[in-house]
Amino acid sequence: MQKPNLTKAKKRTNEQSMIIDCFNREIEKIGQNKTYFIKTYGCQMNEHDTEKMQAILENLGFSEAKIMEEANLILLNTCSIRENANNKVFGMVGRLKKIKEANPNVILGLCGCMAQEEVVVEKILNTYPWLDLVFGTHNFSDLPKLLKTQMLNKEMLVEVYSKEGEIYEGLPVKRKYQHKAWVNIMYGCDKFCTYCIVPYTRGKQRSRLKKDILNEVNDLKNKGVLEITLLGQNVNAYGKDLKDDYAFIDLLTDIAKTNIPRIRFMTSHPWDFDENMIDVFKKYSNLTPHIHLPIQSGSDRILKLMGRNYTKEAYINLYQKLKTIPNMHISTDIIVGFPGESDLDFQETLAVVEKCQFDYAFTFIFSKRTGTPAAKMRDDVLFKTKQERLQTLNRAIEKYCLKSNQKFLNQIIPVLIDDVSEKDKQVLTGYSNTMKRVNLKGDKKLIGQIVPVKITEVKTWSLFGEVVERN
Ligand code: SAH
Ligand code: SF4
Ligand code: F3S
Repeated sequence: MQKPNLTKAKKRTNEQSMIIDCFNREIEKIGQNKTYFIKTYGCQMNEHDTEKMQAILENLGFSEAKIMEEANLILLNTCSIRENANNKVFGMVGRLKKIKEANPNVILGLCGCMAQEEVVVEKILNTYPWLDLVFGTHNFSDLPKLLKTQMLNKEMLVEVYSKEGEIYEGLPVKRKYQHKAWVNIMYGCDKFCTYCIVPYTRGKQRSRLKKDILNEVNDLKNKGVLEITLLGQNVNAYGKDLKDDYAFIDLLTDIAKTNIPRIRFMTSHPWDFDENMIDVFKKYSNLTPHIHLPIQSGSDRILKLMGRNYTKEAYINLYQKLKTIPNMHISTDIIVGFPGESDLDFQETLAVVEKCQFDYAFTFIFSKRTGTPAAKMRDDVLFKTKQERLQTLNRAIEKYCLKSNQKFLNQIIPVLIDDVSEKDKQVLTGYSNTMKRVNLKGDKKLIGQIVPVKITEVKTWSLFGEVVERN
């Protein structure tokens, strides 16, 4: 048994990360005639890890089950960013007990960020003995070996490593869409914002080599992919851990030159933002005019306590420069109720929202993550006050999100159609290049294409339109 250890997880050395070659790994068909189901929680990083695990499992002979209850192997790929993310997963683990009772041969696994938390693994060992397999973010590529061991021994296997981490190249991937794809450019995070668990669950910041990223991107281009999203916890810090001076701006330029129609990236931390990027945006029209730039708080006092390393003024300054890029849309993340946040601090956050008028924002109430510095900070703000602040903030965010959407009314904009809508099978759904969700009536044959859409209706969180026939 290998349990996670937070003290080890936060260690950082200057050693360069090892690159582990997973091309053409030997595989034994231990999944023949078996099915799997993976339930994914959390961010795009996790979604993309799931795509890799799916391909690993299918190489072992497993096929995908449409319904969780019918699968021979169920994996929960979890997120631990906030307490309610954990609670959602624990609720699901409770449900899995019934599945195990009905079918004792099913293998139940938990992986992802929650598996990296000491408190979670202790809770699993004490409370959820029906789980069969627990592994973390550092060793999901060992899935074949882990499964084989579990199948032979038939007892709970806990194998979670707390270390800085390596870079795995050559893992297979089963992409959800043919027309758009995620590309990791880096893993982990070294920013250690005082509230955040990610640097502990994902290890140190480690950038993939330029050649490996460009090979993947060119391969996607040759397959006809129309949109790629470069993934990293803080893409602007790309390359800072490598020994050359090839930075994010260079990578972005090289990727823009492939002429893939849409190139996105996320997430950007203001800390490492290179303002020369503005010129790159102006030069390459396939860099989509949207940046997710989390501010977290509008109070300098709170930003300092959070360890964000910028001031409100610096943020607004950067924001205004970015807005000089034609059609640029900027979204953000905001936390309310950070330990000790006063009403004045909160009013400062609201004032920044009024000033920046974000195109949209994700808002959260601060959640205590065991092991992070903020978890030990004195917090005398009532939860009720935090909830009220969130509501006030959300009203302001919604106002500007609607305003941002309204300018598209009666406009014709290009939309990449992803799928049929989950809510209404008669409706198609996709995104504009400015990252607005667009729903529309149209032929399913349009899925996977970029089509001109006339916007006929505007809501707070989405646009509605119709395809403009091309002559
Ligand atoms: N790497 C990204 C953020 C990843 S987490 C970045 O730095 O921008 C996504 C968002 O979750 C964060 O931006 C933050 O707003 C929120 N978040 C992270 N930890 C949190 C916590 N302990 N409580 C509440 N919200 C949190
Ligand atoms: Fe968390 Fe901060 Fe790293 Fe983002 S930059 S993942 S908020 S520690
Ligand atoms: Fe959650 Fe881990 Fe992503 S904590 S937000 S799944 S990096």
